[in-house]
Amino acid sequence: MPHSAFAPKNVSFDQRALLIDGCRTLILSGAMHYPRSTPAMWPALMKQARRGGLNTIETYVFWNHHERRRGVLDFSDRLDLPRFCRLAQEHGLHVILRIGPYVCAETNYGGLPAWLRELPGVQMRTDNEPFKREMERWVRLVAEIIRPLCAPNGGPIILAQIENEYDNIAATYGDEGRAYLQWAVDLARSLNLGIPWVTCAAGRAAEAGPNDVASADGSLETINTFRAHEVLDAFSQKHPGLPALWTENWVGWYQTWGGLLPKRPAEELAYSTARFFAAGGAGVNYYLWHGGTNFGREGMYLNITSFEFGAPLDEYGLPTTKSAHLAKLNHALLACADRMLASERPSIASAGPAQVVCAYEGGVAFLCNDDEHAAATIRHDGRDHALAPRSVKIIAENGRVLFDSATLPRPVTRAFRTAARLAPFRVWREPLPEEWLAALQTPRVSAKPVEQLSLTRDETDYCWYETTLAVAKSEAGAPRRLQLDGTADIVHVFVDGKLAASTPGPLRERRGLLDGLAFKQSFELALPAGSHRLSLLCCALGLIKGDWMLGYANMAEERKGLWGAARWNGRPLRGAWRMQPGLAGERARVFDAPGCFAPWKPLKKTAARVAPLAWLETTFPRPSARGPFAFDLGAMGKGMVWLNGRCLGRHWLIPESDPMGPWMDWMKRSLVGAPSGVATQRYYHIPSEWLRDQNRLVLFEELGGEPAKIRLVRRV
Ligand code: GAL
Repeated sequence: MPHSAFAPKNVSFDQRALLIDGCRTLILSGAMHYPRSTPAMWPALMKQARRGGLNTIETYVFWNHHERRRGVLDFSDRLDLPRFCRLAQEHGLHVILRIGPYVCAETNYGGLPAWLRELPGVQMRTDNEPFKREMERWVRLVAEIIRPLCAPNGGPIILAQIENEYDNIAATYGDEGRAYLQWAVDLARSLNLGIPWVTCAAGRAAEAGPNDVASADGSLETINTFRAHEVLDAFSQKHPGLPALWTENWVGWYQTWGGLLPKRPAEELAYSTARFFAAGGAGVNYYLWHGGTNFGREGMYLNITSFEFGAPLDEYGLPTTKSAHLAKLNHALLACADRMLASERPSIASAGPAQVVCAYEGGVAFLCNDDEHAAATIRHDGRDHALAPRSVKIIAENGRVLFDSATLPRPVTRAFRTAARLAPFRVWREPLPEEWLAALQTPRVSAKPVEQLSLTRDETDYCWYETTLAVAKSEAGAPRRLQLDGTADIVHVFVDGKLAASTPGPLRERRGLLDGLAFKQSFELALPAGSHRLSLLCCALGLIKGDWMLGYANMAEERKGLWGAARWNGRPLRGAWRMQPGLAGERARVFDAPGCFAPWKPLKKTAARVAPLAWLETTFPRPSARGPFAFDLGAMGKGMVWLNGRCLGRHWLIPESDPMGPWMDWMKRSLVGAPSGVATQRYYHIPSEWLRDQNRLVLFEELGGEPAKIRLVRRV
């Protein structure tokens, strides 16, 4: 159906619910970030959403991807936001559009384009003119793109969001922050899109208790947390005129390189969701329904390439036990929606020390056992109902059990099967900067190292830093310390062209202030006396998503590469520094087509391991089996992967060894998991539409590995 065939709709709200054309509407929404899947996947994802009982899709808007270079816009392919919204509508789904433009979202720089850093005097997300000027320009542009897609114009968009969880940083900016947030809300309202705006300003604060720091007049406040029912009373007291909308119900969590995968069990998720509607909730957004993939260099600092997030649909868009369980819940909620929303509040009666019955007019009841450890029996309408610990049963007016949060459907299990082995490989060693063809070199020479992002503008992960390292006779042979005071993220240390040391992972997600310990690195090296060529390859792992990752310094302070002093055995290195941004292979774009700068050599079958700094390529025909597909990189080290010129993402075989950080303590009631010791990520998603009849795989390998073991696998 062409989108013009859809009737205009009026969206408003009352104290109980969102009103669409005057009707109270229960919102069951699932987040899917359009750049994290491909247009060919979208129809199936939307169908799965409908099957899962959703009536709405939510996505952030990704300024960082749409405007990678200032003034150059990209709304093509995975970034075709209007197409994504129209598809949702054609599948009978509303859209919640969270414009931000600061979105957090585990995306590079929290959704802000990296070039913002270059504006003189810029400070992100506060009352700062250069930032506000650019933000306003972008927000006004987005508004014009989406205006025809908003409900009053016959489109699917029913709600929009400006900014995101400002309370996370509000304390740093005080009155200036308050002024900025109010300015942002006023800007949003001035666009006259005809739909309500949310800010999720005090979302997280709901977890700690009611908090007034970060709300702004004129926006609809909402809740982001794991267990929204626990903060509902406080929320309603604070916002008596607002419906209880839960904009982020975290279905799991993201994973960082070397960190564990925190999991949210399906029963706990279903319990918390049902419990929220028992208590008077009006809408939920499962964050996320489909997580997908951080393609290319799009993930935030330290986020792995998979963005599966423990979501109901797995990275490949396939249903899971969780999606089947939530589908039952969502369908039950939809079946009761009219009766639930007709009541102003449920009547809540105690049924034991930690048990309640929440009843709506017309007979729908939620029997809730909030005891985390003990089962309970609740008598309702003359019948006894057995409830597992921490569970909810939804009972229809005729006594039928519509849903039991503790009873999981039949488990869905999936695995990877070999579809093809990939060989032979050809190899080309990435040269160290002074071996580069002179025509490719664009070095910057200075007495002190120059910070990486000011050289790369975040267009590559890589930057070389070279200088001379003089080892005295008295220092020869025994291990001495090379110390870098101010460096990020991963550094490979080459001495006279040979890899001598690398930053040991895992790195910390919250690293503290830039002058803190986390940005100092040191390496023990035993070197012969004399003058050595020291070449440091600094590898970025994405930009931070918020101030807290820099000890609450402004995001504008984000840095990569080397900016601090370098010392050998305590003495400052005296020579000049030569900085070379990027890799020669990137300059020659060897991942696009066999480049003339890449004299590929066949890799002998017997050569089990390739040395560090290897570019690898191979070709293979379209697999005859049906997808979804992935590459198994279980025998490789660290680097990046391209298929037919498209970057699938960063790869790194670092094992899961880091437990949940102390800042995650408050999440431990909902998330479970321990580091498994196995690779954080081994399989790398290949969108089926990126495959051709003949395919070319290119890898850049920083550490070395065994390419003969790379397999094309199928998710079954
Ligand atoms: C929220 C934030 C989201 C996302 C989420 C964690 O606080 O609003 O954008 O970062 O945390 O996945």
